[in-house]
Amino acid sequence: MQSLSSPFALTPTTTVGELAASRPSSTRVFSRRGIDFCCGGGKTLEEACRRRGLDPQEVLREIQQELERGAGEPVAWTERSQAELIQHIVAHYHEPLREELRRLHGMALKVLRVHGEKDPERLSQLADTFVLLKDELEPHMEKEERILFPWILSGRPVPQGGPIERMMFEHEQAGQLLVRLRELTGNYEVPPGACNTWRALWNGLEALERELHEHIHLENNILFPRASGRA
Ligand SMILES: [Fe+2]
Ligand SMILES: [Fe+2]
Repeated sequence: MQSLSSPFALTPTTTVGELAASRPSSTRVFSRRGIDFCCGGGKTLEEACRRRGLDPQEVLREIQQELERGAGEPVAWTERSQAELIQHIVAHYHEPLREELRRLHGMALKVLRVHGEKDPERLSQLADTFVLLKDELEPHMEKEERILFPWILSGRPVPQGGPIERMMFEHEQAGQLLVRLRELTGNYEVPPGACNTWRALWNGLEALERELHEHIHLENNILFPRASGRA
């Protein structure tokens, strides 16, 4: 169970990224409340709440409750080695993501082909946006696995303005495409009368968003700051 008092007190001026990294269960609250803790991790809790029309004190109370609950606490990756974290990212996020991108692409094309006439503009924009996301993420993971992660594992400092900033920029691009997918799917509300493939596509895309937020959070807020000497 995480300490409630260390490594620093919870305040509205703490950044969302620091909270997510130091108290992993806070990410459950962020997901529930729609607070972006991966690409938006540099914002203070106060700013992030303001954007969502939420009361920061209320959100802090919810985080405290999650911490007190304790059971099923996610792993505190700040306390693990970079090698363990990289191994976890590749096994738990990259490999399943490659598979999921192929599966969901097939489903998006099938829904467009079979049901395209019901909502042609939205379904074709959805398929196009999904392809942009897939084309962004597949080479992105390759670059991480072939260039950046081995560099970090070698122990050499990663230079400023280099591969880390490039990867963070690509995370931002992916984050914007996720926002677009959420808009196009009406917040993943399954339309009445949708077939099983349509329903499974909406559910699969929502799960993809959740997993990507966690994945990008581990890289942006824990792995990269440590690799560049910022944490
Ligand atoms: Fe990654
Ligand atoms: Fe990444």
